[in-house]
Amino acid sequence: MCGIVGYVGHRQALEVVLGGLRRLEYRGYDSAGVALLDGEGGLAVERAAGALSNLEKRLAEVDGGKFAGRSGMGHTRWATHGAPTDRNAHPHRDTSGQVAVVHNGIIENFAVLRAELEAAGIEMASDTDTETTAHLVAAAYADGPTAGDLTASVCAVARRLEGAFTLVVTHAAEPGKIVAARRSSPLVVGVGEGEHFLASDVAAFIEHTRDAVELGQDQVVTITRDAYRVTDFFAQDVEAKPFSVDWDLSAAEKGGHDYFMLKEIEEQPEALENTLRGHFASGGIVLDELRLTEQDLRDIDKVFVVACGTAYHSGLLAKYAIEHWCRVPVEVELASEFRYRDPVLGRDTLVVAISQSGETADTLEAVRHARVQRARVLAICNTNGAQIPRESDAVLYTHAGPEIGVAATKTFLAQVAANYLVGLALAQARGTKYSDEVAREFAELSAMPEAVRRTLSTVDQVRQLGRELADAKAVLFLGRHVGYPVALEGALKLKELAYMHAEGFAAGELKHGPIALIEEGLPVVVVMPSPKGRALLHSKLVSNIREIQARGARTIVIAEEGDDEVRPFADELITIPAVPTLLQPLVSTVPLQVLAAEIARARGYDVDKPRNLAKSVTVE
Ligand code: F6R
Repeated sequence: MCGIVGYVGHRQALEVVLGGLRRLEYRGYDSAGVALLDGEGGLAVERAAGALSNLEKRLAEVDGGKFAGRSGMGHTRWATHGAPTDRNAHPHRDTSGQVAVVHNGIIENFAVLRAELEAAGIEMASDTDTETTAHLVAAAYADGPTAGDLTASVCAVARRLEGAFTLVVTHAAEPGKIVAARRSSPLVVGVGEGEHFLASDVAAFIEHTRDAVELGQDQVVTITRDAYRVTDFFAQDVEAKPFSVDWDLSAAEKGGHDYFMLKEIEEQPEALENTLRGHFASGGIVLDELRLTEQDLRDIDKVFVVACGTAYHSGLLAKYAIEHWCRVPVEVELASEFRYRDPVLGRDTLVVAISQSGETADTLEAVRHARVQRARVLAICNTNGAQIPRESDAVLYTHAGPEIGVAATKTFLAQVAANYLVGLALAQARGTKYSDEVAREFAELSAMPEAVRRTLSTVDQVRQLGRELADAKAVLFLGRHVGYPVALEGALKLKELAYMHAEGFAAGELKHGPIALIEEGLPVVVVMPSPKGRALLHSKLVSNIREIQARGARTIVIAEEGDDEVRPFADELITIPAVPTLLQPLVSTVPLQVLAAEIARARGYDVDKPRNLAKSVTVE
């Protein structure tokens, strides 16, 4: 949700800022803008609605000299307050044009601030919450105890703001300096030789430096060419946490594919390997950061899994595994619903919060609610040091690497694997599984990267099918048991990428309503359970397929290799390797991802940047 880049150093800032924005465009592409300081009191701003390329075109048309400064900042927007227009694009300025601000998040008390500014005679130039901060910083810098001190002025304004924000500010009077404040919204500092960077994500600057600094909650950072300084909102120095980025630029490039998503689908075996690596040691499962004792884990009498979207679908799978292995009740809940319905939580409740970004506002608020109720929180996250793991009692990182495509693919598989690791860790602590059983389950999990590799080698048939289905009006997805969350995930991928009506159903529910949707030629994708592992469910699903086929549906069946029983009822049969039941989603999801991507491409859509979506959703 909104990408931010800031730079002060020895290079042409415009190039650095645009390069960073290109890598952050996945965070929002409603509009983009830059503000450059020329070092002589000039502040040049350019903004454009739509994709970053619109801004680049506009910059190519305007006088290059104006944008030749060595410090500056940029923004790609995912609109919250105000339509995605030029007028609402960031950076926003104060009335004098001396202060420029870019912002990620939502300023909840902006209406009050706006009314106060308007009462003082200031005319707003946009509909955004962000613009208020530019006027407030200008006023704080002009007068009173913070006059002439940009860091102190930003601190004073940050103290007045409610909500979640990353705010990056520059003032024409201090050209070699950029100041940023953060609360519950991401910001990292890149530390180079004679240059410093600010960004929502390290991807924006890893081309230049791998040395980074993580900012804590309610902190302000001031960067100049030669130094950075971190303070709290009262301008008191605080200790910052340096770290080194352990993935390189090529990991964030497309690797020969048209789209990041296609590369990320192919990276799934490695994502699984990296997520599992190191988690089985000394005969047992080990998690990453466990600030809970073995006794705490033994005392748990209920598990809640909270997450959104694709992460929620991975959470649905966690329920099957944890209840089966640990004999403890598990509820899976959409994070956006969780805290509003007053769930029963206590010290012996474990809340597992799953989030690729670790920033999702709904999930973060669910975590906070759980902690207030004294529940223990374990985060499963793909982003080191993000807010959700920071606020949790324990963390298990999915090492899927950067995921740039907005639709989650490799992080979903990594989440499923991580959920299973959590299930096994709990089973081990609670004694519901012997250590040799845990070791066996882990070994089966460790064989999955190879099974996913095999699945990927057979997806050409799915691509062809995707092209054939490009003109379908709708597609239904059916599954039972662990195939049900897979059906939901298949439908979500299709909706978000191909803008096509798609629904996932538990196949047993068909006769309770959805069967009325079946009409001649309607494509229905069915995820079959194993004919051996789940014989009863298998035969029930075969009956479901017969029912829909009899009503004219075009049946697209995903089934294990050697499943001959279902073959006569499949208009199209897609085979996947035979693996243990709980692990089947790790292979059965893959053709559904490819199908959605291919239908979207055939319809001419950008699969990395589906309309109206952003990679991380930092507003509720
Ligand atoms: C769908 C998708 C979203 C995310 C959801 C949660 O492809 O990517 O549904 O899964 O927004 O995001 P995280 O995992 O970052 O909390």
